[in-house]
Amino acid sequence: MTQCSVTLGQIVLKNPVICASGEHVLTEAGIRAGLAAGAAVVVAKSVNETTAAREQLARTDYALFDARWAPEAWPGADWRRANLLCRSGLQPLATDEWIDRVARLDQEARSQEAYVAGSLILADLNEAVSIARRMEQAGLRLIEFNIGAPYGDEAASGAIITERAADRVRDQVSAVCSAVNVPVWVKLTGQSENVAALAQAARDGGAASMIMIGRSLGMLPDLDTQSPALGTNLGYGGGWALPLTCYWLARSRKRLGPDFPLIGTNGARGGDDVLRMMLAGASAVELCTAVMTGGFEVITAAIDTVRTYAQSKAQFAQDWVGVAADRLQTFGEQPLRPDHWQQFVPVQTRD
Ligand SMILES: Cc1cc2nc3c(=O)[nH]c(=O)nc-3n(C[C@H](O)[C@H](O)[C@H](O)COP(=O)(O)O)c2cc1C
Repeated sequence: MTQCSVTLGQIVLKNPVICASGEHVLTEAGIRAGLAAGAAVVVAKSVNETTAAREQLARTDYALFDARWAPEAWPGADWRRANLLCRSGLQPLATDEWIDRVARLDQEARSQEAYVAGSLILADLNEAVSIARRMEQAGLRLIEFNIGAPYGDEAASGAIITERAADRVRDQVSAVCSAVNVPVWVKLTGQSENVAALAQAARDGGAASMIMIGRSLGMLPDLDTQSPALGTNLGYGGGWALPLTCYWLARSRKRLGPDFPLIGTNGARGGDDVLRMMLAGASAVELCTAVMTGGFEVITAAIDTVRTYAQSKAQFAQDWVGVAADRLQTFGEQPLRPDHWQQFVPVQTRD
């Protein structure tokens, strides 16, 4: 253990920074770049068995917008504050070919005390179980099972499932977890009225950790063309999502207890955000958009920030997991300040 290492069940990570699945890890070169940047885990681009999800990669598009919804160049100087609207696709290579490549990269990662995780997105459950087994047989030490990708209602029928029902989450997770011996991290949707209930269902199904929360769907009309940006409904992300992620991390920590490890995703744009998600209850944090727009050096910088914070606080990374979540108070515990609200309204409103 070092000052920056964190424990997630049976896995010790050298630091809490994970290079998330996305287009930047569609290639072996991208995965190697994530490892070289120092990520404790690089999650490979996801696969499933459907041709539709594979073909979807050729129909993807991506756009950044500023706070007033003006389009920005990609990646743009202000990528940390940009809103990303996009539709993504899955790995187009044959499933087993990609699994073999990712497993070889996971072998390479051992010498860097890191992991390359296989990632699988749910379409048909029996096929998902089969893919998870093939991942384990190929030698992968860690599997991500994404049942919360945002595009379930938008992609071709049956290509991707966005699971929102707790009982089905438990059954799906249980089917995959009981088929393999390696740890399975389950990625959950944020499009739910109760992500913590989904987290409990995933834990009951045998997940080693849950990654939360998946991005939302959005659509953005363009004033000139009067058409939707990029033509379709889109996955929507940005730094604005960080408090939503922290909220569900804290709620899930309360529901599952402090000993069950959680992973944050959605809204982290650098090391400070990694720390914020950890204080809300994440043992580790995934970065995707920040790497796609800011490059793999974002990972290295985030790890440096964590290291500096650990030194300045004289703490181990594990020590600050959930500290802010455990300090949450109720509204009723707040001091009475009857006129305080008046500072936050236009002068005309005041008596
Ligand atoms: C373009 C794009 C592609 C993505 N592809 C995948 C994927 O293949 N598998 C997956 O589990 N998550 C995928 N994600 C989700 C990210 O891993 C991440 O959870 C999400 O973008 C929120 O984190 P962020 O704010 O750091 O981007 C993708 C996200 C984006 C923006």
